[in-house]
Amino acid sequence: MHALGIDIGGTGIKAAPVDVATGKLLADRQKIATPRPARPDAIADVVKQLTTSFSWSGPIGITFAGVVTDGVTRTAANMDAAWLGLDAGALFRKATGNQVRVLNDVDAAGAAEMTFGAGIGEKGTVLMLTFGTGIGSALFIQGILVPNTEFGHIEIRGRDAETRASERAKELHDLSWGKWAGHVDEYLQHIEALLSPHLIIVGGGISKQSDKWVPRLTGIRARIVPAALLNDAGIVGAAMSTGTGG
Ligand code: BGC
Repeated sequence: MHALGIDIGGTGIKAAPVDVATGKLLADRQKIATPRPARPDAIADVVKQLTTSFSWSGPIGITFAGVVTDGVTRTAANMDAAWLGLDAGALFRKATGNQVRVLNDVDAAGAAEMTFGAGIGEKGTVLMLTFGTGIGSALFIQGILVPNTEFGHIEIRGRDAETRASERAKELHDLSWGKWAGHVDEYLQHIEALLSPHLIIVGGGISKQSDKWVPRLTGIRARIVPAALLNDAGIVGAAMSTGTGG
């Protein structure tokens, strides 16, 4: 019932052992700065370090900010190109000496939200979107995940959506809350036209300030709620992905 969750982010790699039945962390999480360049071997070293520092032996779930099929990392929009086509499952298994499951970062966070956070009991179409360096998505239908959706990369006004509506786009172009919320609203209108979700859960660091922008999303029919687990969702979802919850 216990697994180690490791969440690989653009700035930090965070880990903690998790009770997957309750979603509770079993120890304080540890964080190590993401090495630059974020190449596979350097990241695998950090993953090894974190595993050792918890004296962990058992299943490990690890997130990655890209498409992951059968342990192979397939895209790397904001990651080092060396991840493309890499068997990350094998790399981390070798580094840690444990059984490893690798999955998309927002699929992990979304699974944690559906079980322990803002999506509990939601049966309809639920879309989790995170606004950070990029825009990540996780789609649930009747509580079941459709893995590896990449709705941050739909095209809006001839550009990749995450270059207009991510948190990074707000910082990079110094957009006011009003201006940026307008970009997010336009993005969500496209998403709504394609998927008609009942509920949209918005996550990423900027969801901590959801009162500044969610009320401005006036063009959307779906309910929009901020993520509930914030910092820990990736760790918890990574641990859940190992299937130790039964
Ligand atoms: C990637 C997604 C990822 C998201 C959030 C996007 O650029 O394509 O796979 O989930 O960023 O990290």
